Amino acid sequence: MKIYKTKDYRGMSRKAAAIIASQVTLKPDSVLGLATGSTPIGTYDELAMLYKQGDLDFSEIRTVNLDEYKGLEPENEQSYFYFMKKHLFERVNINLDSVHIPDGMAADGERECACYEQTIQDLGGIDLQLLGIGHNGHIGFNEPEKVFERETHCVELSGSTIEANKRFFASEEEVPRYAYTMGIGTIMRAKKILLIASGEEKAAIMKQALRGPITPEVPASVLQLHPDVTIVGDEAALSLL
Ligand code: F6R
Repeated sequence: MKIYKTKDYRGMSRKAAAIIASQVTLKPDSVLGLATGSTPIGTYDELAMLYKQGDLDFSEIRTVNLDEYKGLEPENEQSYFYFMKKHLFERVNINLDSVHIPDGMAADGERECACYEQTIQDLGGIDLQLLGIGHNGHIGFNEPEKVFERETHCVELSGSTIEANKRFFASEEEVPRYAYTMGIGTIMRAKKILLIASGEEKAAIMKQALRGPITPEVPASVLQLHPDVTIVGDEAALSLL
């Protein structure tokens, strides 16, 4: 596991973008696994800037996102599809036919999960998966559980995740209670993983996840078993390591 500590959020974003940019440069048709939330916004800003400067080409890139809220249409401003369009897809020359996000409106949820898993396999697997981390150690929407869920599945969001995500909605009641997420197995099959974290409020969970016991009660702790993980965090997030 490689750990890069940066001074602040900007430094984290620049370092993470540099790692993603090198992946895109070395393998222009890479399959990138992408995340939403507030942590990667700066990383996407940096990638958009590199594209604008003519330093990056996304024309052959394929993407798969970690997760999507159940019941939100892609046009809904709170959907992860909308987020990805706004923060990355509309700002670079990515082909929208090559981006994949679970369909929050799928009539048959189980079928959607199976299809999503199949899509990732058909793409040849994920070359580089970007992850953020929840306050409870969730990655994607894999919440603390008794077992590691392997494949893409539908989850009921925990109280702490609803609490953390309500900042993006008009009220807590509007936060969807269910989401589709890649499973821990799906994430662990990625060839490389890049976990980013910023801020003091992530320090305790980063310590637990990276130095504590490997347990489904702290889903991110499973990353200790992955052969190619890079952590990029700012001083505050890595202060307890
Ligand atoms: C989002 C996702 C989540 C977030 C996590 C941290 O696609 O998979 O696991 O990475 O909730 O969110 P922020 O970055 O908002 O602290």
